[in-house]
Amino acid sequence: MCGIAAYIGQKEAAPIILDFIKKLEYRGYDSCGIATLNGSLTYKKGTGKIDDVDQKINFLNLKGNIGIGHTRWATHGEPSDKNAHPHFSCEGNIAIVHNGIIENSEELKKILIKGGHEFRSETDTEVVVHLIEDLINEGNTMEEAFAKTLKLIQGAFAIVAMNKNEPNRLYVVKQSSPLVLGVGDNEIFVASDVLPIQLHTNKVVYLQDGDFAVVTNNDYKIKNLSEIKVNREITILSENLEEISKGDFEHFMLKEIYEQPESIKRAFKGRIDKDNAKFGGLNLNIDDIKKIKRVVLTGCGTSWHACLIGGYYIEEISKIAAQVEYASEFRYKNPVLGKDDLLIVLSQSGETADSIAAIQEAKEKGVKTIGLVNVVGSPIARMVDGGIYLHAGHEIGVASTKTFTSHLTALYLLSIYLGRINGNLSKEKAKEMLNDLENLPDKIKETFNSVEEIKKIANKYFKSKNALYLGRHYNFPVALEGALKLKEISYIHAEGYPAAEMKHGPIALIDENMPVIVIAPEDRLYSKVMSNIQEVKSRKGKVIVVTTDESKNGFDEIIKIPKVSEFLMPIISVVPVQLLAYYIAKERNCDIDKPRNLAKSVTVE
Ligand code: M6R
Repeated sequence: MCGIAAYIGQKEAAPIILDFIKKLEYRGYDSCGIATLNGSLTYKKGTGKIDDVDQKINFLNLKGNIGIGHTRWATHGEPSDKNAHPHFSCEGNIAIVHNGIIENSEELKKILIKGGHEFRSETDTEVVVHLIEDLINEGNTMEEAFAKTLKLIQGAFAIVAMNKNEPNRLYVVKQSSPLVLGVGDNEIFVASDVLPIQLHTNKVVYLQDGDFAVVTNNDYKIKNLSEIKVNREITILSENLEEISKGDFEHFMLKEIYEQPESIKRAFKGRIDKDNAKFGGLNLNIDDIKKIKRVVLTGCGTSWHACLIGGYYIEEISKIAAQVEYASEFRYKNPVLGKDDLLIVLSQSGETADSIAAIQEAKEKGVKTIGLVNVVGSPIARMVDGGIYLHAGHEIGVASTKTFTSHLTALYLLSIYLGRINGNLSKEKAKEMLNDLENLPDKIKETFNSVEEIKKIANKYFKSKNALYLGRHYNFPVALEGALKLKEISYIHAEGYPAAEMKHGPIALIDENMPVIVIAPEDRLYSKVMSNIQEVKSRKGKVIVVTTDESKNGFDEIIKIPKVSEFLMPIISVVPVQLLAYYIAKERNCDIDKPRNLAKSVTVE
């Protein structure tokens, strides 16, 4: 949440920072701002998405070779000009941008106000800049004041600060929120992730929790919070820069839905070995695997939905007990964990605060942790004991699509691997399952044949106020995911249920205005799902069926999907529900890639 950026070097800072915050806009987009130093500190900020704000106030008028920028997702204080970052000290000499939450801001604010500081925003961030100012007024240097401030604040923070009286230095810190330095020739870039940096330099330094650094145009000195110098190695990014563009698609979300045949291929490429799966970075030896008695899967949002299906895979394919937990709840239930457990964390961004906390909980209890993560080098990827990268490519649309199917692909392979090693899956079955997986990308392409039908359905139902999604077994989490997609991007209230649960309550909602989307492939529960559909029809609900069954009619609408094995069906059946949400949101003129109130990376609790 929130993207921060900074530059120090020989070039004009504002164009670079503007480009950076635009590339970080997926992290939050309710307001934005930039400050530069050119003898004096100048700044511009405003409410709204970056392009709109820039059009009004023209960020490029800001001059100077050093500057900081921010794109905000509001936590403390509504989206407004005054709450937009950067924030300034009373005398206006110091400017800061911040991503995270200062948990003790209220107490600190009271003390600072008593000491005469004047607050201009409702943010938690502003306390930081006044604390630095206060400590400088007491006789500390900027570096000492910055270091002392870090000991006074609690919470999650990535901060960049600059001081008019030190025009050649940036001060940065990372604690729980991500921050990366990019090292160029006589220039240093700072950003919340490598995405904007990689176009300027392939040398990056991933700061670690507790790192604070004084950055000049050709040097950076990193210390920890105890002010002891630490060395962080430079990571060289791979040369294959992925272009971040929508191509011919109107939205990133649509592009990412259509990328799924390729992103799935990348998730299994190099990981199939005749009758088993193979992984490079799992860091689990055969004895470790044989000892596993229980797998706990955790994540948030779409990643949690993928965990639910992963839990079914692990029980059914590997024959190991599986338990699925919301990452946001996990640590608070003081979970009983032991050395024979394995924690698997799913995350696209690799920086979700709740998922990080779940890993910390497991680590404290001595449990091995595995991360299934998309963003290479992200905090979760670096803190787990081993992992599988999804290689789905950048996912820019705030609503996750391709990483859901890549997560399922990785979980399917992992279940095969665990099942083969612990002797619960035969060679023959594994071979057949791996062969099915290799054919899956072409099957995904077949689902796109239904797009015209989906557009018609979207056009018919886009004014609905509510929707229900039903599915059973592997397709129940797909129902949850379909409902989440619809809520996120079209703002229609939607709920997902196991189809058989409907009669235990939600059936009371059914009337002629209620579209009910049923995921009903011809699997072992097909006839039971058909009975559930009849219960909806008898109450005049509108039934939209996603099915493999060519012959069925009598429903209000049918979306055809190709036949695949039961295990792989959720990877197929989710595609039409992603497309349905997309086209409904389009009919409603919603901002599909930047839905209201959301951000791609949720780095606060
Ligand atoms: O980056 P993560 O996978 O850890 O993110 C988890 C959720 O925040 C994320 O899936 C969210 O629910 C998406 N907006 C879903 O489309």
